[in-house]
Amino acid sequence: MPGGAAPRPATARAHPNIALIKYWGKRDEALQLPATGSLSLTLGIAPTTTTVTPDGSLAADAGLLGGEPMSATELGRVSRFLDLVRARAAAAAGADPADLPRARVDSVNEIPTGAGLASSASGFAALTLAAAAAYGLPLTGAQASALARRGSGSACRSIFGSLVEWLPGAGAEDAASHAVPLPDSGVRLALVVAVLSPGRKKIDSREAMRRTVATSPSFPAWVESTPRELAAMKEAIAAADLPRIGELAESNALRMHATMLGAIPPVRYFAPATIAALDLVERLRAEGLGAWATMDAGPNVKVLCAPADAEAVAAAVRGAFPGIDVLVSGHGPGARLTSPAGGGA
Ligand code: DP6
Repeated sequence: MPGGAAPRPATARAHPNIALIKYWGKRDEALQLPATGSLSLTLGIAPTTTTVTPDGSLAADAGLLGGEPMSATELGRVSRFLDLVRARAAAAAGADPADLPRARVDSVNEIPTGAGLASSASGFAALTLAAAAAYGLPLTGAQASALARRGSGSACRSIFGSLVEWLPGAGAEDAASHAVPLPDSGVRLALVVAVLSPGRKKIDSREAMRRTVATSPSFPAWVESTPRELAAMKEAIAAADLPRIGELAESNALRMHATMLGAIPPVRYFAPATIAALDLVERLRAEGLGAWATMDAGPNVKVLCAPADAEAVAAAVRGAFPGIDVLVSGHGPGARLTSPAGGGA
């Protein structure tokens, strides 16, 4: 390809993130621009590892997820994302995107896919770095983050490690809406993930978000109040004030669910076990353990606490829900290229 490196296989790894101030709703569907900013913790567990292998013999992109062929929907999303990477790589190299080969994508999630555990975040963050390296597209961290956003909004935050803010940007500007790592205030958090239901969710977050934006009378209030909560969360993080971080995260998550419960028809991810887990967290607090709940687009509950309390919280969750998977995580790293060596955001 004129002026560019020949396409070659590349592998990247990224971790999921859990939002403490949620992203829920877009202001621009095509560009995946969010209605508000958000803030998350990149986890140290359950990474996605993705290899992109450009192959001139392929008539179309092909994809495996956990060793199985991707569904048509999954492959469509991946292939549209690869088209974007190929278009940018070709533009950077002064080449024709049609001359770039299609690719095989092999992605492995060490976490149940589609269960509200943010596998699309780690998936598109890993795909961004692997695809950019495969097609020779150089990216800064901010550029990688803005590009990952086009695959899945929350993926822009998994480009960076630890505590991360997603800047919403303004208007229809693509490049300004990306994540940035927060300054390290020394605060250390743990998340205990109660996998109450590992199955695929009833309605995916993209469709649920769309319905909320289009029909929920609470959505404008969500957009209006989220920037204040985000500012309060940044202050609490800067002050390393765990109880305040916990209170803000729990109320923000419940408010997100209230907003989607107001959609027509309602979007309800709560299961009976979800309510039982929220009760448990309240009980732990009443007993003096610093524990706060958050939830995403699924029935699972994640409990925020100090790292020193994580084992006690996990033991309480296991005791209340015998036999379920309980994952414990602290702060994890940003996405990085693992092959060829020497890359990363
Ligand atoms: C509830 O990033 O999966 O986890 O941008 O449509 O791909 P798309 O949505 P996605 O939504 C995540 C929503 C959330 C909250 C959050 O992570 O901030």
